Amino acid sequence: MAEPLRVGFVGAGGIARGAHLPAFQALGDQVQVVAAADISEQALARFAEAARLPKKACFTDYTTMLDKVDLDIVVVCTPNSWHYQPTLDAFAGGCHVLCEKPVAISADQCREMIAAGHKAKKLFMVGQTLRFTKGAAIMKYWVDQGELGKVYWGRAQYLRVRGVPGSRGFVSKKMSQGGPVYDIGVHVLDLTLWLMGFPEPVSAFAGVYREITTKRSPLIPHAPSRYTVPEDAAFSLIRFANGATVCLECSWTLNLPSGGEHNVVVCGDQGGCQLEPPTLLVEKDGKLLKTTAESFPYPEPAGHREEVRQFVEAVRKRKPSPVPGEQALITQRILDAVYKSGKSGQAEAC
Ligand SMILES: NC(=O)c1ccc[n+]([C@@H]2O[C@H](COP(=O)([O-])OP(=O)(O)OC[C@H]3O[C@@H](n4cnc5c(N)ncnc54)[C@H](O)[C@@H]3O)[C@@H](O)[C@H]2O)c1
Repeated sequence: MAEPLRVGFVGAGGIARGAHLPAFQALGDQVQVVAAADISEQALARFAEAARLPKKACFTDYTTMLDKVDLDIVVVCTPNSWHYQPTLDAFAGGCHVLCEKPVAISADQCREMIAAGHKAKKLFMVGQTLRFTKGAAIMKYWVDQGELGKVYWGRAQYLRVRGVPGSRGFVSKKMSQGGPVYDIGVHVLDLTLWLMGFPEPVSAFAGVYREITTKRSPLIPHAPSRYTVPEDAAFSLIRFANGATVCLECSWTLNLPSGGEHNVVVCGDQGGCQLEPPTLLVEKDGKLLKTTAESFPYPEPAGHREEVRQFVEAVRKRKPSPVPGEQALITQRILDAVYKSGKSGQAEAC
């Protein structure tokens, strides 16, 4: 058995402690979580307890961790605004990087992160967790089997009626930059684009709204003045060079009578499929046939466990990144254009 890969965390908050740490721990002696850095002593203490880390392995400045601890892998779980610099520094320190979504807060940042990974010859993966679920795997299987034919339309939908996150990090522009677009829209958009083969995006035409979080409500966990991200809902039509289009719809809060839901739908000239519940529709012999796939084999538990398992396998076996920065860049170019279009009222180039 090879030596365990030595893992350090930058950002030891909710997702680091609740999802990534157990996912690394589930890999047994393939990996060892040896250090963590967080600007919050409290977050660090809770993480250290769960990871059984001694005090000397905990740092309030991640650059000190990178200087002092010999690491193979750095997991970046900071708020969105601080994905970029720790990723660059981790690559400069010779580490592989698993970075939470959204990859960055601009396509330019993402380009630099990709270049830094190439320069260091290290693996770069972005934590697009939704891909590592059974429903996503079933859809990918149908697409790869050619069931859909020529794919020309997708719908990436993540709509909450009242579901603004409680943590201030998510609603502060300084920390998060974006609202539901960066929090949940990016998940369904990534999955839609992955199923469509990441076509080259051309433009996005978007409405980016902040209409409900501007007012005080017992159902919104933040005072309007503390809610500084640009949107609480956004809707966009995205065009691609191959003629395809995607509708992106996301909200943390929206007066939607039918209730909140998330789904991904991808349609081609021969068939179409959806995520929730996984269903394929094709026309055969003049009839519309629906297929569901409850018995599809997929490792359980999925999500972060499977994401981290595939990341570690790719590092160990020198396989390609399961979610490469280049794919995240296409998504980020679209999201940049969505925000720009929301401001200008025009379609904006991606
Ligand atoms: N893939 C998913 O399903 C999923 C789910 C939740 C969150 N996320 C992403 O994970 C990231 C973190 O989210 P979270 O829910 O864990 O937030 P969180 O606020 O619980 O944790 C973030 C931690 O980063 C720390 N931090 C901030 N700046 C830092 C710095 N410069 N150096 C070191 N630590 C710093 C904070 O003190 C905090 O403990 C976000 O980018 C979010 O989009 C992904």
